[in-house]
Amino acid sequence: MTEGRTCPLHYRYRPEDLARDPVVCDADVLYVAGGLYGNPLALAEIEAMADRERAAGRRVHLLFNGDFNWFNASDELFVSINHRVLGHDAITGNVEYELACPGDGAGCGCAYPDFVDDAVVERSNRIMVRLQGIAAHHPELQQRLGRLPRYRCLMFGGLKVVVLHGDPESLAGWGLSHEELSARGNEQLARWFRQTGADILVSTHTCLPVMRAMVVDGRQRLFLNNGSAGMGNLIGSSAGLLARIAGSAPSEAAFGLPSGFPVSAALEPVRFPLAPWLSLFDALWPENTDAALSYRHRILNGTSLTPGQLRAGTGISEKII
Ligand SMILES: [Fe+2]
Repeated sequence: MTEGRTCPLHYRYRPEDLARDPVVCDADVLYVAGGLYGNPLALAEIEAMADRERAAGRRVHLLFNGDFNWFNASDELFVSINHRVLGHDAITGNVEYELACPGDGAGCGCAYPDFVDDAVVERSNRIMVRLQGIAAHHPELQQRLGRLPRYRCLMFGGLKVVVLHGDPESLAGWGLSHEELSARGNEQLARWFRQTGADILVSTHTCLPVMRAMVVDGRQRLFLNNGSAGMGNLIGSSAGLLARIAGSAPSEAAFGLPSGFPVSAALEPVRFPLAPWLSLFDALWPENTDAALSYRHRILNGTSLTPGQLRAGTGISEKII
């Protein structure tokens, strides 16, 4: 099987190109939300979080870094999720790419590594086929999704913030996953900081949250992977997470990265109401359907990752190079 496993050629880009054209982000707070997965309750909560920041006098820039579609397998939900997300800033994920340009043999476009079971990959490919059938009814939205950039560099608080979906070499790369960084250490991440010139890298795609801080070439660098904004990430929790970077007003969230840096950075919980989301999900994906088999347990219970495991290895003050 190659569909869902391979990384298509058009997903590839070069780390050296990611920070070439930075755009000034004139805001006090940057939210980066990856992996909404078609959850309208999580989207409403993210917008409400941004509104609460604005009510406190802070300007917010909200950026969705891909995979905002996945479970939204009805015409009505497909249209509303995409119209709402595309009203904010957004880059593409592999899901949006495959919805905009179906039929390239990439399956779901996830480029799953070997540690993911074949059955999961096959179910993801079938979820994508169902969603592509709905996207085909909405060519105008397909065109808008097809025009989304694959990455973005923002100048925020005087720092270069590179936001991408997978890793610095591929839209669907797994090099910034919890599994990869835990198994192989931070050397590749440090090389990517050097190659991109980024002060902060923000990714998603690999479904588990990660935070790292390190000094590369004498400069403090940060890496944030929010896991999923629309699905539980930690053991016993159904809350999504988003990456929050702020020039002042540090987050009160439980998962924050270090002081002694010009901005504060944290993974902030997205506490959407579970019951209405679950009833909507169950209506779209009843028992024994592909998404129910792959994701319902996680939607209810989160993952096996503990807060201690998330904090471990964050590498605060770690000197790599
Ligand atoms: Fe993805």
